[in-house]
Amino acid sequence: MDKLKLVALSGSLRNLSYNSSALQALKMLSANDADINIVSLGNLPLFNPERESDNIPSVMALKSSIEKADGLIISSPEYAHGISGVMKNALDWLVSGEEFVNIPIMLINTSPRATHAQQMLREIIVTMSGKIIEKSSVVIPLLGTSLDEQGIVIDSQLSALLKTGIGEFCSVINNNLHFVSSQTLISD
Ligand SMILES: Cc1cc2nc3c(=O)[nH]c(=O)nc-3n(C[C@H](O)[C@H](O)[C@H](O)COP(=O)(O)O)c2cc1C
Repeated sequence: MDKLKLVALSGSLRNLSYNSSALQALKMLSANDADINIVSLGNLPLFNPERESDNIPSVMALKSSIEKADGLIISSPEYAHGISGVMKNALDWLVSGEEFVNIPIMLINTSPRATHAQQMLREIIVTMSGKIIEKSSVVIPLLGTSLDEQGIVIDSQLSALLKTGIGEFCSVINNNLHFVSSQTLISD
């Protein structure tokens, strides 16, 4: 079976971000099953609906990477009981396009106490018609650990949680692709 093409977005711009490290670790742990393209959100301008047809390179790159992907992985922090502005800005650029509609989504939460942001993120994703794959979504307690991606990979409990989540994610996507392609064959 071909490797799945996945896009990953971190809602933090910090150099030592736990969310970005979790995505880097996931990329290393799943290298045999999926190609994870971690797209930086730091170059996106602030969302302005009047600029949606301006062909802004960073916005076009984000949209095109999601359009080509089999699934999307989101890891984003909580700030003041809300989702990060970085993530909300990126999602706002995607609201009116078709790329996000029905895309399977794996959520990673790097802080068990960050429940408000996760709830808000879920509401936004559902509103945008993304499909959260619940059994793939994981909470990994990274806050306060000072772990980077290497540290996460070698931590047996954390890496097991990530591996289980991505395994479920790939399996749901693969089953769905199989279902769609068999339907296409039947209708052909
Ligand atoms: C200004 C600010 C506000 C924060 N507010 C919250 C909060 O409301 N709830 C929470 O659980 N964590 C809060 N945090 C902690 C961050 O979510 C945490 O540091 C997280 O690891 C940041 O993500 P990163 O490591 O990927 O950069 C806040 C951090 C900062 C800097």
